[in-house]
Amino acid sequence: MSLPEWAPEGVDVSVPNAARVYDYGLGGYHNFAVDREFAEQLIAAWPGILQVAHTNRAFLGRVVRWLAGRGVRQFLDIGSGIPTRGNVHEVVQAIDPQARVVYVDVDDVAVSHGQAILAGNPNAAALGGDLRLPAAILADERVRAQLDLDRPVAVLLVAVLHFIGDEDGPPGIVRELTASLAPGSYVALSHFTAVEDLGHEHDQVTKLYDRTPTSVRTRTREQVAAILGDLELVEPGIVPITAWHPDPNEPAEAEQRSVLGAVARKPR
Ligand SMILES: C[S@@+](CC[C@H](N)C(=O)[O-])C[C@H]1O[C@@H](n2cnc3c(N)ncnc32)[C@H](O)[C@@H]1O
Repeated sequence: MSLPEWAPEGVDVSVPNAARVYDYGLGGYHNFAVDREFAEQLIAAWPGILQVAHTNRAFLGRVVRWLAGRGVRQFLDIGSGIPTRGNVHEVVQAIDPQARVVYVDVDDVAVSHGQAILAGNPNAAALGGDLRLPAAILADERVRAQLDLDRPVAVLLVAVLHFIGDEDGPPGIVRELTASLAPGSYVALSHFTAVEDLGHEHDQVTKLYDRTPTSVRTRTREQVAAILGDLELVEPGIVPITAWHPDPNEPAEAEQRSVLGAVARKPR
């Protein structure tokens, strides 16, 4: 099979991949037949999942604007995904062109497409990295070249921690990520959570993901709180993403209970 021009060398097109499945769900075209077929199985199992992807993306945009409104000008977006509409650098650099953004993803398609769209943008970078190895991300010279860790940084972990198993210790990952950041830094996250009346649909989705290299799991509000550890939750706390600072200028969204969102701050 001949690969499209944007496909990085060595890309595995035989198994579905979380980044490319999400890209398909958002209407993107950086995906392969195996991803589209898998996404269609997810949609058949839980038709509401497409809306989840769009709602999550809207949450990301609101979080970035909210943080920018509090003066944050440095963003480390881990599990950033394949660039699509409303990317972090577009949102924040529209507010301040000097704002810095580093995208990190474990997926080669996400990284190579990120690098392509950032060519010519001196204040943003995209690189490969694994959230399970936070020290390596923070030590990366491309991160250090963009971000001044002596000033506040917002770490974005949006729709990625549910791909990290308990065995990899999400609370420890967040602790390690924030330990060397300046006080006044933030962590923002969204996370798949169980909803009683969607138990069957959620089960089907997790079973499907179990057949891919990246399984997915729900976590409770308490487990999400534990991931954020000693960071201070900003209002309104850990809530369904649609309830996190809804924007009166955007069309009202149906409540999305399957994904929790939160922003927390490193105390000064
Ligand atoms: C559902 S997408 C979310 C993209 C974006 N953050 C958003 O919310 O729109 C999840 C992303 O996490 C990435 N990912 C999964 N496990 C990861 C890991 N261990 N380290 C870094 N990225 C990871 C996937 O490749 C994918 O791009």
